[in-house]
Amino acid sequence: MANLTEERVLDALRTVEDPDLHRDLVTLGMIKDLRLDDGGAVSLRVVLTTPACPMKGKIQADVEAALRKIGVERMNVVMDAEVRRAPMGGEVAGPTAARMPGVKSVIAVASGKGGVGKSTVAVNLAVSLAKLGAKVGILDADIYGPSLPIMLGLKDSRPSVNADEAIMPLERYGLRVMSMGFMLKEDQAVVWRGPMLGKALQQFVEDVDWGELDYVVIDMPPGTGDVQLSLAQLLPVAGTVVVTTPQDVAFADVRRAMKMMEMTKTPVLGLVENMSGFICGNCQAVHQIFGESRIDAHAAKAGLDVLAKIPLDSVTAVAADHGEPIVVAAPESAPAQAYKALAQKVAQAVAVRTHAAEPKMGKLKAFFSSKVPG
Ligand SMILES: Nc1ncnc2c1ncn2[C@@H]1O[C@H](COP(=O)(O)OP(=O)(O)OP(=O)(O)O)[C@@H](O)[C@H]1O
Ligand SMILES: [Mg+2]
Repeated sequence: MANLTEERVLDALRTVEDPDLHRDLVTLGMIKDLRLDDGGAVSLRVVLTTPACPMKGKIQADVEAALRKIGVERMNVVMDAEVRRAPMGGEVAGPTAARMPGVKSVIAVASGKGGVGKSTVAVNLAVSLAKLGAKVGILDADIYGPSLPIMLGLKDSRPSVNADEAIMPLERYGLRVMSMGFMLKEDQAVVWRGPMLGKALQQFVEDVDWGELDYVVIDMPPGTGDVQLSLAQLLPVAGTVVVTTPQDVAFADVRRAMKMMEMTKTPVLGLVENMSGFICGNCQAVHQIFGESRIDAHAAKAGLDVLAKIPLDSVTAVAADHGEPIVVAAPESAPAQAYKALAQKVAQAVAVRTHAAEPKMGKLKAFFSSKVPG
């Protein structure tokens, strides 16, 4: 192992690509703490752009194979991740990005229609991201009909205020949680109009101490109204996950929601088809009770990805009513597995978008620094 040098190891690692970002790990700056000891052992850390990376296993195997190819027999390859700050979507500019300074990416879960499972998807997506090792928060932007206190078993909890007068989010299943429901008594209705809704949302964003988080998932209210507009003006949303069901009528509402996102310049990460077939609790057969899904055709026409198809099942609603998301109540179930894959796809889509924006930002920085006399 006399001729093993750091240079040779890096050259070997230049042959390993991140399959999503289509660049090699060295160029991407993902190789950290590279150490060679006298006995020829190599240790290094591979820092991916998300802990939820579905390619983690493949990348590790590729790194180890590349090292073996140059004769390294003893190696310690540690897989690590650091989420990079997402590019700005929505209408926000400049200082508004500082509203959640410790948060890397904001992911909205939306639909033009009520009752399709937005809150269910938001909660299970958030918990799945946390289970994959990410630091995650969830914000209930449904001011009129907040669902998160019940779905997360936090019905009787109230947030506290810290010494700096910031509101501390509640913690559950590894998530930091904030909801209008924590501020209301049970059965109390919210009767605010547009401007007050915007103000309430702004408080949830600015006056809550979210801390350092990789992802904040936002559970959006149904429709394309004031909250959607306020949010787009308030926060840089990395992307929106649009929830639909197999009925065509639901898809018409989704189209309206997508038009809205186009108007507010918020990118769509892809579609989730919820209640996609019913899994029979007795025989485990899948029944298409809404008829055959046409989501693939719809999505292809709109140029969108289908991120997941979540089946209708008999555990989801009952567990949610007891404050347990399905990914906690039945982690091995088909819906829970679908949520895990969804979390990986969402993290991947955000990472790809963030990466795509980075060179442009680099170019912009270079342009401005060339204009500043040195
Ligand atoms: N895949 C599923 N299988 C079984 N039940 C589900 C599934 N998805 C959602 N549900 C149930 O359907 C109901 C509506 O879901 P949810 O509250 O998530 O919808 P929503 O789109 O957020 O509604 P709203 O528009 O009122 O905010 C809930 O009782 C939930 O537990
Ligand atoms: Mg909801």
